[in-house]
Amino acid sequence: MALGQPIHRFEEVLSTNAVALDLHHRGASEGTLVVADAQTRGRGRLGREWISPSGVNLYCSYILRAGNPEWISWVPLIASMAVASAIHAETELNARIKWPNDVLIEGLKVAGVLAETVSDGGEVQRVILGIGVNVNMPIASLPSSVQSTTTSLFEHLGESIDRNQLLTRLTDALDAQYQNFWNSDTSDIVREYLSISDTIGRRVIAHLPVGGPVEGLADGIESDGSLRLRRGQGDMEIIRSADIVHLR
Ligand code: BTN
Repeated sequence: MALGQPIHRFEEVLSTNAVALDLHHRGASEGTLVVADAQTRGRGRLGREWISPSGVNLYCSYILRAGNPEWISWVPLIASMAVASAIHAETELNARIKWPNDVLIEGLKVAGVLAETVSDGGEVQRVILGIGVNVNMPIASLPSSVQSTTTSLFEHLGESIDRNQLLTRLTDALDAQYQNFWNSDTSDIVREYLSISDTIGRRVIAHLPVGGPVEGLADGIESDGSLRLRRGQGDMEIIRSADIVHLR
């Protein structure tokens, strides 16, 4: 199976994840890649919008195998590692990861990952892996509410880069992570993830989907990719999904 083949390119779609899902229902194979120049309903994590202006950024989705539950929980983390490595290979910028899968440059978000499972009769059939990278977008073009937390490669390089070349790097890096996952121990993946994590070792606030925010020290990653948070009295909390704010 070659990741990134075939490629379906579009000028504008609602969401590349939605197109990939539709292609899956029409029989598209594992590895299929959907790329668009613009999205009118780009989707982010936790039900948010992903701002997707035309002709400046990368919006793409891969149809991946469902594998096993361990693989499914690692897909978004592995994808963020691949994004960070593709960015570094193409620009030499140092990208790091805010748990679970936000890619940051100098603390500002440059890319996001949205992995959605497709199930039939309770069994997961495929993972649709959506990736958005802010490439040549000037941050001043964004709503002021997100300008202070968002960046693009252009903002750091002072020049535009070739989005297709970045996509090739990304597909290669994902392919390498894909092979690596099936051929190595999870502890190796955890180690690699920790080496580019911007979260582990910091004090953070975790905004959980249910219940109030919890504060603590981000202590490590479990074998399924969950975050270990050390609370005030040394109590450990295992967090599977949250929006993390880095404190210092
Ligand atoms: C996040 O909130 O950080 C995840 C953002 C994921 C955005 C990408 S862009 C391509 C794909 N299609 C979507 O609608 N979302 C993902």
